[in-house]
Amino acid sequence: LETGTLSIVVLGASGDLAKKKTFPALFHLYKQGLLPSDEVHIFGYARTKISDDELRNRLRSYLVPEKGASPNQLNDVSKFLQLIKYVSGSYDSEDGFRLLDKEISEHEYLKNSKEGSSRRLFYLALPPSVYPSVCKMIKTCCMNKSELGGWTRVVVEKPFGRDLQSAEELSTQIGELFEEPQIYRIDHYLGKELVQNMLVLRFANRFFLPLWNRDNIDNVQIVFREDFGTEGRGGYFDQYGIIRDIIQNHLLQVLCLIAMEKPISLKPEHIRDEKVKVLESVLPIRDDEVVLGQYEGYRDDPTVPDQSNTPTFATAILRIHNERWEGVPFIMKAGKALNSRKAEIRVQFKDVPGDIFRSKKQGRNEFVIRLQPFEAIYMKLTVKQPGLEMSAVQSELDLSYGQRYQGITIPEAYERLILDTIRGDQQHFVRRDELKASWKIFTPLLHKIDRGELNPIPYKAGSRGPAEADELLEKAGYVQTHGYIWIPPTL
Ligand code: BG6
Repeated sequence: LETGTLSIVVLGASGDLAKKKTFPALFHLYKQGLLPSDEVHIFGYARTKISDDELRNRLRSYLVPEKGASPNQLNDVSKFLQLIKYVSGSYDSEDGFRLLDKEISEHEYLKNSKEGSSRRLFYLALPPSVYPSVCKMIKTCCMNKSELGGWTRVVVEKPFGRDLQSAEELSTQIGELFEEPQIYRIDHYLGKELVQNMLVLRFANRFFLPLWNRDNIDNVQIVFREDFGTEGRGGYFDQYGIIRDIIQNHLLQVLCLIAMEKPISLKPEHIRDEKVKVLESVLPIRDDEVVLGQYEGYRDDPTVPDQSNTPTFATAILRIHNERWEGVPFIMKAGKALNSRKAEIRVQFKDVPGDIFRSKKQGRNEFVIRLQPFEAIYMKLTVKQPGLEMSAVQSELDLSYGQRYQGITIPEAYERLILDTIRGDQQHFVRRDELKASWKIFTPLLHKIDRGELNPIPYKAGSRGPAEADELLEKAGYVQTHGYIWIPPTL
């Protein structure tokens, strides 16, 4: 592992993302000894003129556990906050960035009395409109200058553009300044435990290898549901909508991992090569395989235009044109203000041929991976109803993580991903060609929505979403199991 000083710079340090995700993730890494204080320094950068202590005070409440903290925990928080320095400046002028560079260099000088290289990580917790200018400033003023080696890396967050063209423009602008191995495009779904588990499940288990194809699988659902609305983010959300916010990135990344061929090794480039192939095999989305929705009350948000036709719900069927998947619908579904909060992958198998239990059977085999909440992997299968009668009933083989892995804390997605950026592992980050291919899939549909040619159907907040979406699901071949009730495991 590399040694030497590590400077982590969080740009947009007083924003929501930084406070809620970036700094807490850094804190968790720190607590586990992964950011040793004799090597690491953290810098917050933003426009607001505040002191180091003011930033620390603003961050404190996001680091202290809600239930209250023990003196030890409070001590950890204080020690961590002492690692943070604040620099204020604008995002498009050199003054601030020169000052930032000076601070970083001073810290490197102090710590490098021990020998080592200098590593500089810039985390852009900022809106993408300022990415080009910020990247330019970093390139001009803040690159690693150590002769002993090291690196400079930038981490960027979605939205990477609004459509194919704008995304490509952004990629070109950043690409002129940094090489691909320096650019880390975060999709935090790739940091979730059960998303990271996909490759292991698929390629390390004899169970799945022969079944994972169009001969056996009838349909696949990738579902994201939230039981709250846009809650104060209406202004941001309205410019993007649910497809850009969730489906084009998070759910599509999950689709890649379900559908891709086996990579020749676990090297990040080999994995990403396979993901790109899947994306490039996706056929154009058909209008009659899309249902859009908008929850009633969405437009009451003062930051949302009264006439907004931005979807807060969408079901869209993707079809992959290759030997493995031809004819298998991948049903992507995402919605805000629904009746539950859940993200899951549901792989439904075809009916058993020549079924002698036909009249008694209750449903199809399903393999479900619940990403959240309460991570679980379970297989729905048919067994004999226990008792004297011979009848068949649907049951499950259940691997609920809370029960199986008691006492193990599952790391937050951001925590893992930031650690990867420090270690230089790009496996769980989106490569430029992946990004391009993913925008290509959704851009025609998004443009139709933007032009008002496709409009969302209103649905009640707290409901399942528009009934038309369930009809589409059925038309695509999904068979719902009636009478099956999931009994959550007790700890
Ligand atoms: C973000 C979206 O990327 O993901 C939000 O912008 C959404 O709208 C969030 O709420 C969901 O993330 P998670 O990890 O809570 O499923």
